[in-house]
Order: sequence, then structure tokens, then C-alpha cells
Amino acid sequence: MFAGENAELTASQKDKLARFAGFTDQFLSADKVVIANPMYNLMIPAELKSWVDTVNVAGKTFKYTAEGPVGLANGKKVLHLQANGGVYGAQDPVSAIFNFIGSDFRQIAVEGHAYDPEKTEELLAEFIKKVELEAQAF
Ligand SMILES: Cc1cc2nc3c(=O)[nH]c(=O)nc-3n(C[C@H](O)[C@H](O)[C@H](O)COP(=O)(O)O)c2cc1C
Repeated sequence: MFAGENAELTASQKDKLARFAGFTDQFLSADKVVIANPMYNLMIPAELKSWVDTVNVAGKTFKYTAEGPVGLANGKKVLHLQANGGVYGAQDPVSAIFNFIGSDFRQIAVEGHAYDPEKTEELLAEFIKKVELEAQAF
């Protein structure tokens, strides 16, 4: 059954909502956010998806208007680092949601080591160089 906004919440529901709000506040009050994850089955890991689902809240990180959704993240710097064995050009659900909420979103991937495992060290070294360069301006 759907509980309306004014429904009485149980103590454990209130605790859970407070924890969710804590994650959102932590995200909104951070100067910079760095997310690092592997790709699993063309997706981000379930734990990261759960974190995104708790952090991202209508009225806090975005709002709906008559003209459509508006991001409220005010250009917060978010750097996303992802490892994937194939090559996808850093396309994934993380970019969609962090662009949606209006963050200043950048991505660097280390990718393709499953296609050519002998190149792993080389790909990793290139990735670290890119991250170090980005970190200077981030
Ligand atoms: C369960 C599982 C699923 C994976 N699925 C993908 C995938 O869909 N696409 C891909 O490019 N790589 C996939 N990979 C490879 C990982 O993204 C890659 O090895 C990455 O470097 C993992 O980071 P880690 O080595 O730190 O665990 C998968 C690996 C695992 C273990």
C-alpha cells in the first residue's frame, strides 16, 4: 500500500529516511566528489546505484518545473573514475544522472584491458597520468 506524504512513519522508517537525508546532505555540502568504480555487466555496481538513489532527491538535487527538470547541484565538481575491460568511451548511467542534477561532471576511464591484456600496464599508466592532470585543475 502506498503511504501518502502525511502518513505516520514507524521509528525504523524515520531512521532510514534520516540516514538517506544524511547522505544527500553530505553530497551537497562536499566541495568536490570523486566516484571510482568498476563496470559490471554494462552497469555500475549495485552499491553505487543504491548510493545514487539515496543521494539524489527531488527538491534537493533537482526540481521539476513547468519547463522540465532543473538541476540544483550548482556546478558541484564531480569526478568519475571507471574501470572497464571493454571500450565504451565512458558512457554509463553515472554520467546521465550527474549531468541531470547540474554538476560539473568529468569522467576518466581506464578501459580495454580485456581486449588486449598485454596492454594493461600501459593503459593503467595512461589513466594515472590523466587522473593526475585532472586532479591539478579539479
Ligand atoms: C562480474 C563482472 C562483470 C563485468 N562486466 C563487464 C562489462 O560488462 N563490461 C566490461 O567492459 N567489463 C566488465 N567487467 C570487467 C571489469 O569492468 C574490469 O575488469 C575492471 O577493471 C574491474 O575492476 P577491478 O579489476 O578493480 O575489479 C566485469 C567484471 C566482472 C568481475
